[in-house]
Amino acid sequence: MSEHIEVSRKGAVNIVRMNRMEKKNALTRAMYAAMADAIRTADVDDEVRVHLLLGGEGVFSAGNDLGDFMAIAMGGEHGNEVFEFMDAMIRARKPVVTGVDGIAVGIGTTIHFNCDLTIATARSSFTTPFLDLGLTPEFASSVVAPIMMGHQRAFALLALGEALSGEEAREAGLVWKIVEPGQLESEAMATAERLAQKPPEALAIARDLLMGDRDERMDLCMREARLFGERLRSDEARQAFQSFMNRKASKG
Ligand code: COA
Repeated sequence: MSEHIEVSRKGAVNIVRMNRMEKKNALTRAMYAAMADAIRTADVDDEVRVHLLLGGEGVFSAGNDLGDFMAIAMGGEHGNEVFEFMDAMIRARKPVVTGVDGIAVGIGTTIHFNCDLTIATARSSFTTPFLDLGLTPEFASSVVAPIMMGHQRAFALLALGEALSGEEAREAGLVWKIVEPGQLESEAMATAERLAQKPPEALAIARDLLMGDRDERMDLCMREARLFGERLRSDEARQAFQSFMNRKASKG
């Protein structure tokens, strides 16, 4: 469905890899749709026990494609692909492990509020420039982040746009474990394989208990999305997207 999402299988691990490195893994509507599909399909496959979401060397994801945001800001349709992706992540019965090296911007950061174990490198940088783009927090981060890291750190991340290094993200509870860059994928895979050996029904119940009420979390995502959608069409957002495009034009 998208050439930029690679789906493969190692044993009982469903590996979903973002591979649009020339655009720092900026996520397009087609990429969200492909990731949602990859998670949902594997989630009902008895041979799969764990999902593993990866980016590339030095880049997890630069967040939503700003060209796609600009199209919405100019009156284009929003589409529901990103919500399908959020829904697939939140409602997955099987645990989701993520491996992060380097850039993790916007949804590239908020994804981890909805997964179970994140392995990262110290050189990673988690940042959500929502406000600088005239936007607001999304993907359940407005409620999960303050609970996870306290109001002040959540506000610094989500409103001030302060970056968290890999180590700071670990201290804040967004990351489980820090490893060397050369070990990231093997550690993430080893973690996924450890989980894959647990009794699957008990594992599904554990994720269910720890995630809490999935309907409530999706309702929260949709409440955030209503505000986010309005903001996308605001003058503040249009101007911010335009300056990114201009920056690109002046670089080229
Ligand atoms: N949407 C669309 N394209 C993006 C992008 C995004 N979110 N992030 C990066 N790109 C593109 C750049 O336009 C550039 O494309 P080009 O080579 O055709 O000009 C390419 O990816 C490389 O990015 P570049 O900015 O040159 O890399 P960098 O290492 O200097 O900076 C970032 C990396 C992520 C810090 C920077 O690209 C950035 O700030 N991107 C926007 C992030 C963002 O605001 N995301 C939305 C969050 S809600």
